[in-house]
Amino acid sequence: MTHLRLRNAAAALGLIAASLVAGCSQAAAPQQPQPADVPYRPVASIREVMSSVIDPSVDNVWDSVKTVIDDGKMTDHAPATDEQWAEVRRHALIVSEAANLLLMPGRPVAPPGAASMAPGVELPPEEIRKLIDGNQDAWNAYAQALQDSLTPALAAIDAKDPQALLVAGEDIDMRCENCHQVFWFPQAVASAR
Ligand code: HEC
Repeated sequence: MTHLRLRNAAAALGLIAASLVAGCSQAAAPQQPQPADVPYRPVASIREVMSSVIDPSVDNVWDSVKTVIDDGKMTDHAPATDEQWAEVRRHALIVSEAANLLLMPGRPVAPPGAASMAPGVELPPEEIRKLIDGNQDAWNAYAQALQDSLTPALAAIDAKDPQALLVAGEDIDMRCENCHQVFWFPQAVASAR
């Protein structure tokens, strides 16, 4: 499991390195559509989409299947009733659709004036903005990779298969970290290498 994650982190870093090189050789970056051209209006910042939409919803998916060790006794937990499965499905759908929120142009990284929550480890919002604007294709790919990882989770939920949902949950986790390592705390990743 740990090895798998490390391998994928390295792959993610390779991908961004490749896309940075590709980006440099292009004459002009394609124009992003301006917010005025589209009917939807971003309300929450990326930080708030994470903390208010994605994180609590994916927690429900992750927590739905788990093994709890109490007084040395292991108990497996999984949704049991149709209603419990339906609730997990609602949360998985929220995460899948929230990936689209990350693709919308014009969404600020953090609320106005907000700083890095862990200076020196996590980039400040203005640095994240520059990274996204300079690597929009990579950003989009990471958001879509997150969305893709919800497809097996939704299939596992529809099949009421806790084991498959557990495996799908680990893959979702990896997609979160792949993006975070590149756009949120790349310095921490670089210094840990
Ligand atoms: C496409 C890129 C991307 C993906 C995919 C992504 N994130 Fe994030 N996430 C970010 C960025 C960028 C930030 C930092 C924003 C900031 O606070 O300045 C962030 C911040 C966060 C935060 C901190 C929010 C806060 O207010 O403390 C949490 C929690 C989080 N992400 C959870 C997740 C989880 C869970 C997933 C996967 C289910 C995920 N993210 C997937 C880009 C991504």
